[in-house]
Amino acid sequence: MAKYVYKCSECGHISDTKFVVCEKCKDGFGEKIDSKQVDTSVYNIPKQAYSYSESDYTSIKSDIIGDENKSIKRYNTSYDELNVLFGGKDDNVGIFPNSLILIGGKPGIGKSTLLLKVINDISEKYKKKCVYISAEENKSQVQERYKRLCLNGDFDVENLNNIEVIMDKYAQYDVFVIDSLNTVGFDGAGVIGGVSQLTRVTLALMEFAKTKNKTIILVGQITKDGDIAGPKIVEHMVDTVLFFDDYDQMQYRFLRSYKNRFGLVDEIAIFEMTEKGLKGVDNPSLLFVNNSEKKIGSTISLVFEGQNPMFIEINGLAVDTQAEKTITQAIGYDLKRIYQITAILQKYLKISVYQKNVFLTILGGLKINKSHIDLAILMAIVSSVKNISLNDKIFIGEIGLTGDIIKSPDEERLIKAAKKYGFNDIICYSTGYKHIQDILNKLGF
Ligand code: TYD
Ligand code: MG
Repeated sequence: MAKYVYKCSECGHISDTKFVVCEKCKDGFGEKIDSKQVDTSVYNIPKQAYSYSESDYTSIKSDIIGDENKSIKRYNTSYDELNVLFGGKDDNVGIFPNSLILIGGKPGIGKSTLLLKVINDISEKYKKKCVYISAEENKSQVQERYKRLCLNGDFDVENLNNIEVIMDKYAQYDVFVIDSLNTVGFDGAGVIGGVSQLTRVTLALMEFAKTKNKTIILVGQITKDGDIAGPKIVEHMVDTVLFFDDYDQMQYRFLRSYKNRFGLVDEIAIFEMTEKGLKGVDNPSLLFVNNSEKKIGSTISLVFEGQNPMFIEINGLAVDTQAEKTITQAIGYDLKRIYQITAILQKYLKISVYQKNVFLTILGGLKINKSHIDLAILMAIVSSVKNISLNDKIFIGEIGLTGDIIKSPDEERLIKAAKKYGFNDIICYSTGYKHIQDILNKLGF
């Protein structure tokens, strides 16, 4: 080997020849280093780097129960919605074996809770050796949670953070949860959780998964400020990326597929955080709507979340104010669109809210950016101002500055879904409402 070599600042790739941009990761630059400093063990996992005996394994329960089926099948968890999110079809849905999966989300959202249950399910159902690497929490914390969640599976819990040691010690294992990616690393390869470590760990785990047939789920941390730098760097390297959406005002958790080599993207699974962990929500469509009684200032619309319709309830409140400055406030929808909607309201329906404070909320802490809910927003304000109840109808349509109701590209699908859920009074372009004045005329107020 030459006296000096060039090492990529990001992925650690070594080359004898000088380079500016790394040919492997196309990201880092080449740093000149003494060849004696080259850490040759990085992708070449040493066989006996760590000595251990069988008794080192910290099995929660000694018997592994599972069926004898040896054919390559997806791992089916006890969460139906999660299985669908991972992909597959008919009775073969769930985690694709030997894939590398990244699950992200901010602290406290439920990543560890979910994955403890997932690994528990796999260990209970299949004859696979599973290990939960908890570099973030100690074993007793994990065991405490295991008890609290009333789990019964047989898997190991380990709290090592040296990735080489982990891969060596658990070389015979099939399923890994690594909680979290940001807390494991190679010795002497930079700051754990830093760009270089994240990349190297992920690359090594990808190789481990593909060449040694391991199924690996990585937890990716994001900071409380929503900085997703860590997971972002490794997203392109893994097979599947799932992220918990950021609805932290309530007990519901939305897990969304952003990338999926073995399934659909932009699908969601909804969970409810209960005292006994995460519970799958079977029928999420009507979760955020309560229209069992007539209400003033409430309207209903719907959007598609992946393949599933989700009904949303919008509350509008417009009240007189003597104050010089009025307030317009929106939670869950773009405030600029609300200003536009109130201007249209004044021009075409002669309903002025300029001496009123206007408040709008999409219930359930949801944030919606689909313009076809304009009409439901406008009608929630109308309902509040006119004291009429409209929450037995579905409103679909974007509103142009001319007061025209614009047909949604998704209209047929939305109407079909609304009817399926028992809503027959649908106010939209296709059902004969071309302009907001048509609503006034037809509904008679
Ligand atoms: P956790 O899985 O630790 O989050 P993450 O790994 O994403 O940081 O979930 C933590 C939150 O969930 C914590 O605030 C406590 C709550 N929780 C419950 O409400 N019920 C439970 O059964 C468990 C285990 C956690
Ligand atoms: Mg955690």
